[in-house]
Amino acid sequence: MKGIILAGGSGTRLHPVTSVISKQLLPVYDKPMVYYPMSLLMHAGLREVLIISTPRDLPSYRELFGDGNRLGMRFDYCEQPRPEGLAQAFILGRDFLAGGPACLVLGDNILHGPSLPTMLTSCATLSDGARIFGYRVRDPERYGVVEFDADGKALSIEEKPEHPKSPFAVPGLYFYGPDVCDLAARLEPSPRGEFEITDLNRCYLEQGRLTVSVLERGYAWLDAGTHRSLIEASNFIQAIEDRQGLKVGCVEEIAWNQGWITTEGFRSEVEAAGNSTYGTYLAEALESGGNPSAAG
Ligand code: DAU
Repeated sequence: MKGIILAGGSGTRLHPVTSVISKQLLPVYDKPMVYYPMSLLMHAGLREVLIISTPRDLPSYRELFGDGNRLGMRFDYCEQPRPEGLAQAFILGRDFLAGGPACLVLGDNILHGPSLPTMLTSCATLSDGARIFGYRVRDPERYGVVEFDADGKALSIEEKPEHPKSPFAVPGLYFYGPDVCDLAARLEPSPRGEFEITDLNRCYLEQGRLTVSVLERGYAWLDAGTHRSLIEASNFIQAIEDRQGLKVGCVEEIAWNQGWITTEGFRSEVEAAGNSTYGTYLAEALESGGNPSAAG
C-alpha cells in the first residue's frame, strides 16, 4: 500500500494567515501541520508517499521533505491545479498508485490515540474494499456523516448534511483497495463542483464493500481548519507533549523507531534540527537509545 497526503485547497478560512503560505505548513505547536498526517502514514508502515498540493505551495513541500531519503522513505509530488475535491487525489495519483491499494490522509487532520500504530498497521493490509472511520462529534453537520444500524453496520453516508442522521463524523483518513482509481474516475462533480470523497465512500457502501470503524473514547481527532481549531490543536499537542515528555508526529523519531534509518542517519537529523526544543528532544532521544514503544 502507498500513501497520499492531500495538502492543497484554498485555505480561505484561515486568511490572511494563509495569504502567502500553505495552511498545512502552518505550525501546530512545534512542527508543521503536515508532520501529523505524515506520521500516520509512517505508523501504518507506508514508505512511499505522494504529496499533492497547489502549484504555488508544492515547491515548499519539496523543500521541506525532499525525496524522502532522509526518513528512509520515497516521496513523490503532484500539483492539483484547482481544489476540485478530495477524490481527485485518485485521479491525480493514478500513475503513482500503479494499480495498488492506497491510504489517503488530509493534510490538516490530526489523529492521536494510544493504540494508533497497531490499528494503522492492520488497516494497511487492506486488499479489497474500503475502510474509513467514525468519530463522535458535537457538530457533525461540518463533516461527512456516517449512520449506523443497531449492529454497528454503516447504513448511509452524507456530506455536510443539514440534519445529520448520527453524531459520527468521518475523519480525513481513508484506506482503499486497488480499484479506487477506477471508482474515482466514474464520479461526477457534486452540486458544489467537487469530486467528493463521500461520494466515493458511498460507492463502496452501496457495493457492500465499506467497513467503518468507530474510534472510541480516548482518541483525539482534530482538524486545524479555522483560527480557533488551529490554536486548540497547538494547545492540545503542547499539553500532551509537555506532560509525557514525548513528541507526537515526530517524523524523524518514527523513522528511526521503524528501523527505516540507521542511528547514524538519525544523528544527522539531530544535527540538522539544531538548537530548537525540537532538536533538543531529538538529541535526548538519540542519547537514550530511543523509545520504540512511544506512539510518536
Ligand atoms: O476533515 C474531515 C472532513 O474533510 C470529512 O469529514 C469530509 O467528508 C470531507 O469532505 C472533508 O471536509 P472539509 O470541509 O474539511 O474539506 P475541505 O474542503 O476543507 O478540505 C480538506 C483538506 O483537503 C484541506 O486541508 C484542504 C485539502 N483539499 C481540499 C480540496 C477540496 C485539497 O488539497 N484539495 C481539494 O480539492
